[in-house]
Amino acid sequence: MCGIIGFIGETIKGTVITDALKKLEYRGYDSWGTAFLSENKIEFFKQTGQINGIPEKIKKINSSLAIGHTRWATHGKISKVNAHPHVSVNNDLALVHNGIIENFSELKEKLSDKNFFSETDSEVILKLIEEKVNSGKSLFNAVSESVSLLKGSFALLVFSSKEKDKLIAVKHESPLLLGITEKGIFAASDQIPLSNFTNQFVFLEDGDIALIEKNNFKVFDFSLNEIKREIIKVESEITSSGKLKYSHFMLKEIMEQPFVLKSVLSQEEKNFNEISSLIKDSNLFFIGNGTSFNAGLFGKEFFSRIAGINPQVIEASEFPYVLDFIPENSVIFALSQSGETADVLDSVKKAKKKNLKIISMVNVFNSSLARLSDKVIYLNCGEEIGVASTKAFTSQVSLLYLLANSVKGNFNKALNELNELSFKMTEVIELNKNSVKELSHKIKSSKDVFFIGRSLNYGVALEASLKLKEISYIHAEAFQAGSLKHGPLALISDNVPVVVIAPKDKVFSDTLNNAIQAKARGAFIIGVSDENNNEFDFFIKLPKVNELLFPLISIIPLQLLAFHTAVFLERNPDKPKNLAKSVTVK
Ligand code: AGP
Ligand code: GLU
Repeated sequence: MCGIIGFIGETIKGTVITDALKKLEYRGYDSWGTAFLSENKIEFFKQTGQINGIPEKIKKINSSLAIGHTRWATHGKISKVNAHPHVSVNNDLALVHNGIIENFSELKEKLSDKNFFSETDSEVILKLIEEKVNSGKSLFNAVSESVSLLKGSFALLVFSSKEKDKLIAVKHESPLLLGITEKGIFAASDQIPLSNFTNQFVFLEDGDIALIEKNNFKVFDFSLNEIKREIIKVESEITSSGKLKYSHFMLKEIMEQPFVLKSVLSQEEKNFNEISSLIKDSNLFFIGNGTSFNAGLFGKEFFSRIAGINPQVIEASEFPYVLDFIPENSVIFALSQSGETADVLDSVKKAKKKNLKIISMVNVFNSSLARLSDKVIYLNCGEEIGVASTKAFTSQVSLLYLLANSVKGNFNKALNELNELSFKMTEVIELNKNSVKELSHKIKSSKDVFFIGRSLNYGVALEASLKLKEISYIHAEAFQAGSLKHGPLALISDNVPVVVIAPKDKVFSDTLNNAIQAKARGAFIIGVSDENNNEFDFFIKLPKVNELLFPLISIIPLQLLAFHTAVFLERNPDKPKNLAKSVTVK
């Protein structure tokens, strides 16, 4: 994970770098740091925690060459010395790294200078470069020779106070792009921090080294052959990247779901038809992590119920272990909001080696996953900044519904249904936004919260419990309603909240029976349904919709429940502890 940023060009204020870093914090917020070329010297600053208030030292800096980093620690604890940038002994080289160096211990052994300041794997890269620069090599040659020795994932930015007209960027299995502006060139982990400066990007590929100067850049492979990389113009995002009137990004992203659905649905029928033909007679595997995995569960339900295809859904980190046993006509359908999740990319690369076709559903334009795929469906739901995925989930589920229908030739019919659903989404928010806030008062002091549902609604239970646990840190778990009596019932005692996702569908009465069994043991029953019931101690009211589309409605009040519970507990839902938005390490 981690976010990295760099700039070379006309003189800018130090706060340009910290402002950009702030926008990258969703990728990691254990610590942060910057290094500037200032009066021919490197001035650096490091701090643990999030960026809260910019130090005077940075406010006063003006610089034409700078790098910054916001960390999600993988090697070495969260501390000031482990924060990036790492700076050489002579204070003439500065480096930031996103990724993991798998062979850092072996490389350490080979280095003559074994005095490391930090416990990170990243510092070994700096030491390698330093050794080569000290032996008389140019910075560019020192970097290219060093990165050829590395195993693992790395997006790097390096500069030297002795070659102050150069910023060097390297990408290998961690995201990195260049942003071209009239005043200079940025390098960054993603487009978000650069949206105020440019819409012209160069998407670096694995194995690229970019030599960046004030007004131009050249890209080489690790053997120093020059490679052509196009500048791509990216049309602006559909939603503002600010929080607007909302206190948190997560709340904004929950509330805008009805509106973004319109843009999500602006899909090309031709793309859907082509993808439909690819998957029609295939063995289909959905892969993803976390919320994207949960979205895959709905893909499975929709494809089997609507299109007569029976896909499997596999957590991306487990997929490589089944790859040897899957048929040759398999198609891999990778789901990822960011398109940068390491487990997904790893699985996809391994599947490509077996010549399997890759279809992906991603939000971030031209992300690594999109570039690895034979066919892509973009979510078009705008930037999602909150670590907890909300609008990306409803976008994924909506588009999976559209695709399953498209396989049956019903693209337009499903499109109309989904367009109508945006009104129901507004309705469900209006019906519940105040009462759910009250409910979160009760939930906030619970040790455990359980979510149950049957059939499609089990997927909602899984997603709702993930939301609650990741941002409130309350133990939340989902069960298939029928499985409660086979063990989990032992966990129920007086007042334990059990959220029962039970619209009035074919499985309603069976689910209600399971709720009654929990209630008999003291559970506090929170019913999520389109019809109230005497057994519910609290009622979350849903409008009536087609039973397959209930998940798109029922998840929204449960996202709000997780949000308000976290806020009552004074936990920042946008940046939950130990987590980061893009998990770019395995
Ligand atoms: C969701 O709320 C989580 N923060 C997390 O599970 C996330 O969905 C997962 O890391 C996958 O991310 P992706 O969709 O960007 O691949
Ligand atoms: N491995 C480096 C560290 O722990 C970078 C971390 C990352 O990119 O997530 O500092």
